[in-house]
Amino acid sequence: MMRDSLPLLLRAARGESVDRPPVWMMRQAGRYMKVYRDLRDRHPSFRERSENPDLSYEISMQPFEAFQPDGVILFSDILTPLPGMGIDFDIVESKGPVIQDPIRQQSQVKALKALEPKESMHFVGEVLGRLRQSVGNRAAVLGFVGAPWTLAAYVVEGKSSKNYAVIKAMAFQEPELLHSLLNHFAESIAAYLRYQIDSGAQVVQMFDSWAGQLSPIDFDIFAAPYQKKVVDLVKSTHPDTPMILYISGSAGVLERMGQTGVDIVSLDWTVDMSDGCSRLPNHVGVQGNVDPGLLFGTPEAIRNRIVDTVIKAKGRRHILNLGHGILPGTPEENARVFFEAGKDVQNLINAAT
Ligand code: CP3
Repeated sequence: MMRDSLPLLLRAARGESVDRPPVWMMRQAGRYMKVYRDLRDRHPSFRERSENPDLSYEISMQPFEAFQPDGVILFSDILTPLPGMGIDFDIVESKGPVIQDPIRQQSQVKALKALEPKESMHFVGEVLGRLRQSVGNRAAVLGFVGAPWTLAAYVVEGKSSKNYAVIKAMAFQEPELLHSLLNHFAESIAAYLRYQIDSGAQVVQMFDSWAGQLSPIDFDIFAAPYQKKVVDLVKSTHPDTPMILYISGSAGVLERMGQTGVDIVSLDWTVDMSDGCSRLPNHVGVQGNVDPGLLFGTPEAIRNRIVDTVIKAKGRRHILNLGHGILPGTPEENARVFFEAGKDVQNLINAAT
């Protein structure tokens, strides 16, 4: 009885048998929603929207109020912990993240502070606690972090990058410098995840968004060991919190993702769900895989793809999601179709077969 009352997403992520896959969306709060754009007009600074606990809470709840997804993700950014380590950043409209003083030398790495989440990230703890209180068992509260490689890509490049030339120059000229930065991030990010879980996050996702830019041989040196370090540190103190790993462009490293110790691998849309499942061990669950571009299609196209995805993931622990964040400009009605079809998927499957 007690177990049944826990949120569906949490039960599914733990591998319990459930009636349907839970559904949420990466970037489910954000620019495609009019309520978000209106709030952004009143509060144009991204740092304010994500670091003022009232605003972060309000934005986190916007998609829950509109669509009742099975997961509510903290509104924040993977870069939010950087100032607590001594790295300033901003997010500039139509340009993306900007690091004023990119990290290029050992002296800068030495000067970094170990993250003390209770001190520098108190707003996050406050928002997670409020989210848990508000949604109760109607949804699971999700926390998240960026993985060391992806954080390093931003702080070394100084901004979003097309070809990652600066961090690759560092990787292939001064690997010890990069390793010391990655190690610093791994320890601080693990501390941050523990803080999120202690504050109310029930499932956590690690985004190594740009690790798919590495050849597998380099992924094994610069990305995987640090993903694993974060997972091992968090699992050593919080073994019951399910962990999800997402990488964009991950088709070449899927098997490796399954070996990091995470509970669930989040697939992008360039791999078929059947192939993805056959390339991962049975005890590892799957999430994602629906092309965010489908939400520019017809309701019928969206429903058909959800049916296809859910049928192919049958027999696995499965969380229905997109293969990357929902795109700006997506019609809100199509986001609604995605959530509703996800909740009604068993009827859709029965009708289709
Ligand atoms: O999923 C959610 O609803 C939670 C919110 C969330 C944001 N960023 C809010 C945000 C999450 C989970 C992130 C993670 C994040 N941030 C990642 C990993 C996920 C991924 O997409 O691979 C990365 C790589 C970042 C870095 C970052 N922050 C980028 C590339 C951008 C977009 C720049 C742009 O203009 O398109 C941001 C800014 C950002 N973070 C926005 C949002 C809603 C858009 C800016 C805005 O709303 O003003």
